[in-house]
Amino acid sequence: MDPASTDVNALARQLYKPEGVAGEEVGKMLAQRNADQNAFTFSCLQIEPADHVLEIGFGPGEGIAEAVRLTPQGYVAGIDHSDAMLKMAQERNHRAIMEEHVELTLGDAAALPYEDESFDKIFSVNVFHFWPEPLRELAECRRVLKTSGLIVFFLTHPSSWLPGMAGTDVFIAREPEEIEKLFARAGFRNVESRTAMFEDRKGFAVLGTK
Ligand SMILES: C[S@@+](CC[C@H](N)C(=O)[O-])C[C@H]1O[C@@H](n2cnc3c(N)ncnc32)[C@H](O)[C@@H]1O
Repeated sequence: MDPASTDVNALARQLYKPEGVAGEEVGKMLAQRNADQNAFTFSCLQIEPADHVLEIGFGPGEGIAEAVRLTPQGYVAGIDHSDAMLKMAQERNHRAIMEEHVELTLGDAAALPYEDESFDKIFSVNVFHFWPEPLRELAECRRVLKTSGLIVFFLTHPSSWLPGMAGTDVFIAREPEEIEKLFARAGFRNVESRTAMFEDRKGFAVLGTK
């Protein structure tokens, strides 16, 4: 096998589920690279101080920290299936966890451990492209979103992915229009996408309401 393709597959798997020492390195890299895309995602979310907010696939926990800052009277929950990312995000958000402003959980987006209608806002950053059958995860998001609540999923556009990523069996390339259709099929209303141009890459967010 070509060593370069082995490397890209290994990196893709680590991005899908960071594990071990390599996973910690991936977590550090994500924390350094995600500021602009988090800022764009939050500009779409329009979080209110008393909102209850859920992040899916929080990685190193930078988005969780920003959601905490924006919800002085609210509550933040996060779920991620990586033990390594849970530990990193817990360290990053230690104080807010102690103050019961945040609860971080190890788990899968396809089976969210929350009551129906729990959240005003749900977001994720660079997670949706790992889901081969996203209607399951979207149905769970819709279930736990309050009526009139807002969901925002940000993704780096496939044209800006690292070379070889689209050829791995982990990353699924979808255009914004395809994701908009999936949101609508899952029952979200007012579905739209917004494009983001950063210095070194292009991204987009898909938004919908319940
Ligand atoms: C590429 S990282 C992005 C992390 C973070 N959102 C950021 O932008 O820095 C993807 C994250 O989503 C998590 N993840 C992927 N699929 C998941 C699923 N089905 N349920 C829960 N977490 C998931 C991974 O463990 C990883 O932490």
